[in-house]
Amino acid sequence: MNAPAGETHWTRKDLLSIEELSREEIELLLQTAESFKEVSAREVKKVPALRGKTIANLFFEPSTRTRTSFEVAAKRLSADIINFSSSGSSTSKGESLSDTAKNIEAMNVDTIVMRHSSSGAAEYLARQVKAGVVNAGDGIHEHPTQGLLDIFTMKERKKKIEGLRVCLVGDILHSRVARSNIWGLKKLGAKVTVCGPPTLIPSSIERLGVEVSYDLDRVIGEQDVLNILRIQLERQKGAFFPSIREYAAEYGISNERIKKARPDVIVMHPGPINRGVELSSEVADGPQSVILDQVTNGVAVRMAVLFHTTMAER
Ligand code: CP
Repeated sequence: MNAPAGETHWTRKDLLSIEELSREEIELLLQTAESFKEVSAREVKKVPALRGKTIANLFFEPSTRTRTSFEVAAKRLSADIINFSSSGSSTSKGESLSDTAKNIEAMNVDTIVMRHSSSGAAEYLARQVKAGVVNAGDGIHEHPTQGLLDIFTMKERKKKIEGLRVCLVGDILHSRVARSNIWGLKKLGAKVTVCGPPTLIPSSIERLGVEVSYDLDRVIGEQDVLNILRIQLERQKGAFFPSIREYAAEYGISNERIKKARPDVIVMHPGPINRGVELSSEVADGPQSVILDQVTNGVAVRMAVLFHTTMAER
């Protein structure tokens, strides 16, 4: 399959962040994802776009959605895929990231998909290897394919991003998903609000062109999209709010609170969900939730990203 016709020509072997992308590059990825989405609805869910290419999934942090989504995406493009996780590998014997990646590259891998706990790890790796590098989440920096699949889902449901009112709720401070959403949504002309406890909102976030609110009940009724972020207890080194129960009371999307939102609001969450904390089960599984659409769309978006980065000139 060829990339959709258009003015923009993709030249990057790596996808490290949405911050580095132009509006046109984001639109090209979304447009390609739209073409690939149709492949997953076929009886034979496969195209030969990356036949003969090899992708390595290199995950140094746990993942359910992202790792399997990249694996499904690679297989639907007819690429070969190697899954590598830090447990059970020589990383646990002290091998450096660079040595691990160079050994994998020596097997003529074309693209490495990497998740790592350190912000900047994907960029570091991209400078070390000739293979393409796709960032599957680096520390608290970015999670570009999650940002892209979130924007793809918003566009699918709301038809356009320009002028869309999107509120990111929760732990903005530790969220790579929030940063990727903000960069992408602002480049495409959305109006973005971040809402959470003051301790979980970075002090300089307004510089990215977002509005800040600490009062969800005041802003919820103005939004087209509520993108609810996970409380990242594993990244929080201090007490950022008094208790989980108080967090849920102020910022959780309960059955009562969702009634204050527009009837056509969509509710998103990147997963994994802390049910009863960020979202009640009724809201997570309710008619406004597009959480499983996000997962479905993740495959198409990752097919687009793998296709363009792997086919880019080295
Ligand atoms: N959204 C997301 O990154 O989920 P996983 O941690 O399961 O990959």
